Amino acid sequence: MNVHYSTASAADAAVGLLAVGVSKADANDLTRALSSLGDLAASIAASIHTHDFTGAAGQSIIVASLGRIPARYIAVVGLGESSDDEYRRAAGAAGKEARERRVTSAALSLGDLSPAQTRAVMEGFAAGNYRFDKYKTRERDQKPAVEDLHVFGAADASVQDKTQAIIAGQTLTRDLVNEPAAVIYPEALAQVARDLANDQITVTIWDEKKIVEENMGGITAVGQGSDRPARFIHLHYRPTGEARQTVALCGKGVTFDAGGLSLKSSAGMQTMRCDMGGSGVVLGVFRALADIRPDVEVHGIIGAVENMVNGNSFKLGDILHIRNGKTVEIHNTDAEGRLVLADCLSYACELKPDTIIDLATLTGAAVVALGEYYSALFTNYDDLAAELHRSADDAGEGLWRMPLPDFYKDKLKAEWADVKNVGGRAAGSTTAALFLSEFVEDGIPWAHLDIAGPTFFNTAFRHFRPGGTGQMVSTLTRWLTD
Ligand code: BES
Ligand code: MN
Ligand code: ZN
Repeated sequence: MNVHYSTASAADAAVGLLAVGVSKADANDLTRALSSLGDLAASIAASIHTHDFTGAAGQSIIVASLGRIPARYIAVVGLGESSDDEYRRAAGAAGKEARERRVTSAALSLGDLSPAQTRAVMEGFAAGNYRFDKYKTRERDQKPAVEDLHVFGAADASVQDKTQAIIAGQTLTRDLVNEPAAVIYPEALAQVARDLANDQITVTIWDEKKIVEENMGGITAVGQGSDRPARFIHLHYRPTGEARQTVALCGKGVTFDAGGLSLKSSAGMQTMRCDMGGSGVVLGVFRALADIRPDVEVHGIIGAVENMVNGNSFKLGDILHIRNGKTVEIHNTDAEGRLVLADCLSYACELKPDTIIDLATLTGAAVVALGEYYSALFTNYDDLAAELHRSADDAGEGLWRMPLPDFYKDKLKAEWADVKNVGGRAAGSTTAALFLSEFVEDGIPWAHLDIAGPTFFNTAFRHFRPGGTGQMVSTLTRWLTD
């Protein structure tokens, strides 16, 4: 999507769809609120019932311009009380209408925009305009994406390049999460990583034999029950000058989670192609870094596996040897993400980064606790938590800090090995995070993001369509580059 900042009159925009924003306060006098449309304002106002349009954020009403202005359709979109997030959702509604109407160019006339609002409307429009419809074959289901977006009233052009890079990253993440597991399996994910290599990004892939040689007992065990062999993926972005900091991002890359021998129900595994969401965010962030080229060094570390059932599946009671030397007793093969991440985190510590952040669709408990808006943040580093909260606020993404107390580690005590891989139902997302902490060296600032809720939506929510959302790409890219 190309974004153009326009200063001309919105009513003259020769686009498929022109979205005009109206706040709640202005919704009772639509003729005035739509005055930028000239003569057309009164006719549109007369055709819209006041109860139908309250100006609530995300609300939209479509009217055909019937040739009275160059734009083919006009979308009247609600701006609510005009917060940045309401602008984001208004733009999302415009993006959705544009896709439904099959237009490939659109314009946003939402009033004067601050830099934060400019970013918000670009990201919101892209999310609303996104659809994963490549497997629809009927012509009437084929709806192209918008190629050219004209934004009126934008503050300045300085936010544009970075926001476009973030949108490209989010789109990659959404596509990877939405693709069936038959398409995105471990080697396919490795190929996506290879394709991101450039003059500043190197990519190293280990196959299943090398993973064994490298003492990655967690990735090996989870991956061995599948005909699709595991891959370990290491992306490395180096700035041209001196790096301000070195960061490691670790992503859970379970391309399908059937649960293993602790098999999930059909309903439970229906959407488990989304279980590589953490690695999808890592790849999306690297897609953005390739364009933004910040002065931080970034490692992207991904354990890519399928958690399946065959004659070689790992078993309950097995004892795994994780790369850092610790042993894990298996009590449930469906608690597999933490085993994969244990090897990734151990490897990340060897790189001696200043900070480690891992992302994983790790627990159903995080979904139960926080729903689809909030990613669960676990860290004992208050400064890091504050920084991530700031970036999430800028990105309009939800983050909620959860407790990580040492005393719950007792729940992970094992009879035969150092720890077991489940800690019971109570505080399920916290015990998963405590499990991960066993594989992070003391003294390295580390945060774990359980993104099980925000990664994939079963139904439309806020400005998102059903499916992969790409959430946390914006938060992390902003955290790395702001
Ligand atoms: N991938 C799932 C978690 C998940 C659930 C992600 C729902 C997205 C939506 C994870 O591997 C899992 O199965 N976790 C188990 C852990 C339990 C066995 C301790 C869970 O949450 O039930
Ligand atoms: Mn699982
Ligand atoms: Zn899983």
